Amino acid sequence: MTALSVSTSSAVSLRADALVIGVAKGPKGLVVAPGAEAVVEAFEGKLADVLTTLGATGAEGEAVKLPAPAGAKASLVLAVGLGAAAEGAYGAEELRKAAGTAARTLAGSKKVALALPAVSADEVEAVALGGLLGTYSFGSYKAEVAKAPVAELVLLVERKGSKDAKAAVERAAAIGEEMNRARDLVNTAPNDLNPKSFAAIAQAAGKEHGLKVEVLDEKALAKGGFGGILGVGVGSANPPRLVKVAYTHPKAKASLAFVGKGITYDSGGISLKPAGHNETMKCDMAGAAAVFAAVVAAKRLGLQVNVTAWLALAENMPSGSATRPGDVLRMYGGKTVEVLNTDAEGRLVLADAIVRAGEEQPDVIVDVATLTGAMVLALGTRTFGVMANDEALRTRLHETAGAVGEASWPMPLPADLRKGMVESTVADLANMGERMGGGLVAGLFLQEFVAEGTAWAHLDIAGPAFNEGAPSGYTPKGGTASAVRTLVRFAEDTAAGK
Ligand code: BES
Ligand code: MN
Ligand code: ZN
Repeated sequence: MTALSVSTSSAVSLRADALVIGVAKGPKGLVVAPGAEAVVEAFEGKLADVLTTLGATGAEGEAVKLPAPAGAKASLVLAVGLGAAAEGAYGAEELRKAAGTAARTLAGSKKVALALPAVSADEVEAVALGGLLGTYSFGSYKAEVAKAPVAELVLLVERKGSKDAKAAVERAAAIGEEMNRARDLVNTAPNDLNPKSFAAIAQAAGKEHGLKVEVLDEKALAKGGFGGILGVGVGSANPPRLVKVAYTHPKAKASLAFVGKGITYDSGGISLKPAGHNETMKCDMAGAAAVFAAVVAAKRLGLQVNVTAWLALAENMPSGSATRPGDVLRMYGGKTVEVLNTDAEGRLVLADAIVRAGEEQPDVIVDVATLTGAMVLALGTRTFGVMANDEALRTRLHETAGAVGEASWPMPLPADLRKGMVESTVADLANMGERMGGGLVAGLFLQEFVAEGTAWAHLDIAGPAFNEGAPSGYTPKGGTASAVRTLVRFAEDTAAGK
């Protein structure tokens, strides 16, 4: 794990393998961002010209290396682009991306000093979080890791406010480390991560951090009548689990339930996915990984709010014991569902977990799921959809996501789409409705399982949960930990009475 620290040393006097500075696009060309004054001085004022000669422009994503000036204790300077030059402070997302790019580019270096424009606690936190997320690498299955992640990140801060900076770095570590854990869970091969091993990881983390963890195994699920989770898991040699991870604060005035879709592998079941659609389906537990990371982070931050994460874990496989299209499941709480397509499995495990979560009467339920391909078609691979039974809650989650740098968009739950879904000839509901607006149909299905009077929101993260493209900023290839920061900030705001 990468060590994070702060130092009040000057950029040129700190011993490090590399020194990171920010550059931006000014109206008359490249400008060096604040924080790098000592480096500018050491280059005798020629730094902007030298960088421009090397082809740097200050654009976002840019990373240009140059030898450190005489007198500096680092051997290398890395200039990372911040985008358009800011009048005042740089935005948190620009800082996170720049720090992430720096950490990724410098993999293989041991100690990296960051002299980016970070003065306020929020800015320091952004640089620390971006840097930590940028160090992420998943190398478990490789005999040799190409380049070891940066071992130590040192943030250079002003003496005034360095105490606040330390606290900000600690916050970033709590969130960033849990996000990196969520990424590991998503990237772990599905022959290693199954419902049982995921539950064991949750139990171990619960012990480590002092959280209450309860696991319902297949016997307990059968006894409790969890027909949705069982119906999805029954075709697999790896039986399903429902895991409850509870964080309580003695002075909490509100309680939140975060419910995560945890399909450790989605083959589609008997309605098998065609080749080309199942290679990445180990990512189908990203919702469960996100809610798990969020509850552990809430505990590490000591938030004054109760947070319970519910991980609905199952493996969706075809076999002689698998649920057939046409089967009827009796869900937790008693509703019956005709399974028309076994590939619409996420809503079945979530329905049970949402009913169970609702029994504890939380103030808000937020579920997080890689639920539909339709949402990816609608919003692309970077943006998650936000649906809710309460317009104010939907707006709040969308704004919360924006505030932490996660792209999201509010989506409707149109009543007319409910008809096709509700109409099963044999059961209370069917698990599939109209193909058009499939992401909204899935949301409408989940809404049927929310207790009367409970505020509920649904985040469909099928697009951003898993990055099949090139890495950029603080986002690696593979698992991204989508929605974790939104959930943590939502819990923080709730704790603050917002
Ligand atoms: N896990 C998939 C959704 C998905 C697609 C996640 C792409 C990530 C990337 C989900 O279980 C699924 O198969 N949904 C079906 C539903 C349909 C059968 C109603 C879909 O979206 O096609
Ligand atoms: Mn599916
Ligand atoms: Zn799925």
